[in-house]
Amino acid sequence: MALQLGDIAPNFTAQTTHGPINFHEWADDSWVIFFSHPADFTPVCTTELGTVARLQGEFLERNVKTIALSVDSLESHEAWIKDINETQDTIVNFPIVADASREVAHSYGMIHPNADNTMTVRSVFVIDPSRKIRLTLTYPAATGRNFVELLRVIDALQLTDGYSVATPANWKVGEDVIIVPSLKDPEVLKVKFPAGYTEIKPYLRLTPYPR
Ligand code: BEZ
Repeated sequence: MALQLGDIAPNFTAQTTHGPINFHEWADDSWVIFFSHPADFTPVCTTELGTVARLQGEFLERNVKTIALSVDSLESHEAWIKDINETQDTIVNFPIVADASREVAHSYGMIHPNADNTMTVRSVFVIDPSRKIRLTLTYPAATGRNFVELLRVIDALQLTDGYSVATPANWKVGEDVIIVPSLKDPEVLKVKFPAGYTEIKPYLRLTPYPR
């Protein structure tokens, strides 16, 4: 069965461009974005890995480690990183898993045989520090992902973990948030949301950004 939200991200050991890793040990107490790309030396993937490298400061601020995977060899990854660095105005400083055996790709359901029998699709797993899968995304080979959207998702996940709120459509840091409908006690609402709230419907109550 496909991995689902709330599942523990499968552990694995693998060769990476940063040496051999045990995935759970490598993750330590960080959030993780684990993403697959179809193949090395391909144009969309080159721009994606360059983008993730340029955003490392943003990921670090949010306690997020990034790690990529494709079914190419370590030698191929190492040669390709030189091209990424040369063409994408960055230095790739996060690991890429070399999964030539496809073992890790299969354990995460990253190969979709009806799309392509051998290459990985563009899967994303956002994993929290307790190793739980908190978000999954799957993009086809010809569509590059929006990694700024992943930063927005991480902001939303980290906020909603700390407060009894949810985030509305297209929400960005600093904007109003939604009080979860299960919270009804007026005394608790006063303590949790000292800035007050606007009730549009009993189930739709907006409160200022709580941080
Ligand atoms: C790419 O990264 O450009 C790509 C990879 C596989 C299929 C199509 C595009």
